[in-house]
Amino acid sequence: MLATALARFPRLTLQSSATPLELLPRLSAELGRPVYCKRDDTTSLALGGNKVRKLEYLVAAALADGADTLVTAGAIQSNHVRQTAAVAAQQGLGCVALLENPIATADPGYLHGGNRLLLELFGAEVSAVAALDDPVSQLETAAERLRQQGRKPWVIPIGGSSALGALGYVRAGLELDAQLHELQLQPAAVILASGSAGTQAGLDLAFHQLRPELPVIGVTVSRTEAEQLPKVALLRQQLAGLLGVALPEDPPQLRDGYFGPCYGEPN
Ligand SMILES: Cc1ncc(COP(=O)(O)O)c(C=O)c1O
Repeated sequence: MLATALARFPRLTLQSSATPLELLPRLSAELGRPVYCKRDDTTSLALGGNKVRKLEYLVAAALADGADTLVTAGAIQSNHVRQTAAVAAQQGLGCVALLENPIATADPGYLHGGNRLLLELFGAEVSAVAALDDPVSQLETAAERLRQQGRKPWVIPIGGSSALGALGYVRAGLELDAQLHELQLQPAAVILASGSAGTQAGLDLAFHQLRPELPVIGVTVSRTEAEQLPKVALLRQQLAGLLGVALPEDPPQLRDGYFGPCYGEPN
């Protein structure tokens, strides 16, 4: 049912095989119970990461629409922007990236190295913004400017987290469910990082269908639980509508005890 609903959406294959589900023996020994890691850091595009699965659906839609430029936004060192710029280069599309410096650093390594350097190599057109305080309209303004130049932009939201992008994590849920069956595992919970919310919305909706007893718990990376909850709930609702599947009654589960001001620095 879920797989059939998902199959209606075109997908650009960027990751052709399942990512590994690995036992973490030392952490398992430390915690006294088996802990497995779904290695989405090993996806194939531009050093890997979780945004690839969302881009498979987003870029398929952009190509079907005849777009010639992907427009997105994020922090200077955003992994999402790095992977969007990479897929644009791979597909022969332009990429316009609105970048903010959310930690107000002058560190040249942050300003010019790492993902920011890769954006240069991928040929992205970078536009610095003071703050991404209204990203929906900032992205639309950038897209309108491109339309006036005769280009055909396609906006990809921050983190790739629209309902369409979150389809990638419905697919990941199906993939993980098959791996759990194969290894005959019955986990107590699925724990994941929750930022722009697409990963959690997709996995939560998938496991609501596939293993209703299995909690999907998001650990917030940039917001309090109270701020993150409506974001995940709204996206999950939009995703359920897009797929035509039942919306879970229970609210999404979140923990914010590990969220700090500098992206992971403890409170
Ligand atoms: C390393 C990492 N994993 C996972 C996530 C969560 O993904 P999403 O943006 O879909 O909530 C983030 C987002 O900030 C992240 O940085």
